[in-house]
Amino acid sequence: MKVFVTRALPEEALRRVREVADVEVWPEEMPPPRETLLQKVADVDGLLCLLTDKIDAALLDAAPGLRVVSQMAVGYDNIDVAACTARGIPVGNTPGVLTETTADLAFALLLTTARRIVEADAFTRSGKWQTWSPMLLTGQEVHHATLGIVGMGRIGYEMARRGRGFEMPILYAGSPNPAAERDFGVRRVDLDTLLSLSDFVSLHTALTPHTTHLIGADHLARMKPTGILINTARGPVVDQVALVAALQAGQIAGAGLDVYEVEPLPPDDPLLRLDNVILLPHIGSASIATRTKMAVLAAENLVAGLEGRPLPHPVNAVNH
Ligand code: DGY
Repeated sequence: MKVFVTRALPEEALRRVREVADVEVWPEEMPPPRETLLQKVADVDGLLCLLTDKIDAALLDAAPGLRVVSQMAVGYDNIDVAACTARGIPVGNTPGVLTETTADLAFALLLTTARRIVEADAFTRSGKWQTWSPMLLTGQEVHHATLGIVGMGRIGYEMARRGRGFEMPILYAGSPNPAAERDFGVRRVDLDTLLSLSDFVSLHTALTPHTTHLIGADHLARMKPTGILINTARGPVVDQVALVAALQAGQIAGAGLDVYEVEPLPPDDPLLRLDNVILLPHIGSASIATRTKMAVLAAENLVAGLEGRPLPHPVNAVNH
């Protein structure tokens, strides 16, 4: 059996795949170019891919022997799952292991944006620090401020736990989550109410046709002028042009972003010229331990698919 792995992964994960298949690993830092990927999958039984690889019908047509697609990420909007299902190909992802790590990063981004940490670090290094000053680098209060969580799934739930630690009243929008209501006293409201009452709005929805541009100009206009938007979900959940306009106009106070409509962020993107945003390079799950667990889980999904067993973490239902 043959598999193609689209980026170098921790050896712990690759070892599991090598036990059952011949493994070719793409060795570069950049993803395989599209044409290369199409050639590489021509004779493989399994594909272990990342969110940077587009897995669509054309790729599946180029891979007639493909029996499993395993994604090393919880989000899988880069994969045409319906096309995989139609061909009887199971698709796996890596939920669970990155939940708390991603919530940690979302909360770090919230604190960093609110308390102007990056700006303060640059100021300290710059030699401009002359004296303690009453209103120097003053930011927004975090404790007891209202946190609005859009999407109370696994990561939203962990974000709520962190918010409770800071004694924040918490609102949420999206599907009901009775466990979060019971455990953290969160209150479900409609999106407009959440936007208008929250001091911080943190996005935790998957990217689907329904959530694309879920937050647009009208929604940003409903936020408080002191409000801060945090996005560690997927860039296209926010209309980025509208977000830039809202930040430029001072309609909202700031944003902490880990994800963008186009990644990597193009060098001429207007976000890069704004000083009321904190910009991270999609590192929500980037701890050594979590990325290793994700790789191992992706390997386990792949091996199960190769062996014709149900995937430990399937995203579609196919007959085995
Ligand atoms: C995911 O898993 O979907 C993240 O975006 C990367 O960890």
